[in-house]
Amino acid sequence: MKMMERILRLDTVKSTNDVLKSLAEQGAKEGQIVIAEEQSAGKGRRGRSFSSPKGKGIYFSYLLRPEKLDASVSTLTPRAAVAVSRAIQKVSGMCPQIKWVNDLVIRGKKVCGILTEMAMEGGKIHHVILGIGINVNQEAEDFPEELAEIATSLSIEAGRTFSRERLIEELVKELDEMWRGMETTGGEYLEEYRRRCVTTGQDVCVISGSSRRKARAIQVNEDYSLQVEYEEGEREDLNSGEVSVRGVEGYV
Ligand code: BTN
Repeated sequence: MKMMERILRLDTVKSTNDVLKSLAEQGAKEGQIVIAEEQSAGKGRRGRSFSSPKGKGIYFSYLLRPEKLDASVSTLTPRAAVAVSRAIQKVSGMCPQIKWVNDLVIRGKKVCGILTEMAMEGGKIHHVILGIGINVNQEAEDFPEELAEIATSLSIEAGRTFSRERLIEELVKELDEMWRGMETTGGEYLEEYRRRCVTTGQDVCVISGSSRRKARAIQVNEDYSLQVEYEEGEREDLNSGEVSVRGVEGYV
C-alpha cells in the first residue's frame, strides 16, 4: 500500500480507534492508519480518557490482522512501546523510557500512551488496533489540571516544538518494522524494552480492583509480565490486563 492510501487523515473525531474499528469491520487492509487533529473522546486504558487537544499531539491508530491467537499477540503492545520510543528518539534526540507496561515517560512524566484493542470472531482474531497518543507540542496549560503533575510533552521537555509530520513518518516506519519482524526479532525488542523500563528496581504499589499491595518490581519476564516481590517475601508475575502498578513515590 502506498503511504497516501494507507493514511486516513481526519479533523475532529471521537476516537481514532473507533474510526479504524469501523473501517476494519468494512474490510480495511492490514497497515491502514487513521490520524486525527483532535479527539473529542480520546480513550485511554481502564476506561480513562486521553487528553487530545487540537493540533498539538499525534492521535494515531494502526490496523493489524494477526493470523493466529498465540502468545506473540500479547507482546504487540510492549513491542509497539519500543517502536514508538525509537521514533521519538530519532526525531527529538530525547530517550523515552517505558513505565510498565506501555506508557512512555520522559523525566518521569508521561509523553505517550498506547491502547490496544482486539476484536474476535468465531474464536479467531478479526483485527487488532494499536492506538497511540503522543504529547508533542502541548504547553503546560493544554493539559487538564489533574494531569499537570504526571503528563508532559516533547516540546515542554526540549524547549522547542517538533514537526508532527516528521514524527508520524518515523512512527509508521518503526511500527512497520516491528510488525514485519514479529517472528524473528523477539529477543531484540525484549532487550530494548528491559533497557528502557523504569519500573524495575522500584518500590511499587500493585493495584487490583480495590486491593493495594506494596511490592518491589524485580524484572520484566520474557512474556513481558512483571515479576514483583511483596513485602512478605512472596513473588508474583503480573499481567497488564489484571493489575496496574504505580510508583510509591509518584507516577513512575
Ligand atoms: C493510555 O494512556 O491509557 C492509552 C492512551 C491511548 C490514546 C490513543 S490516541 C489514539 C487512539 N485513539 C484513542 O481513543 N485512544 C488511542
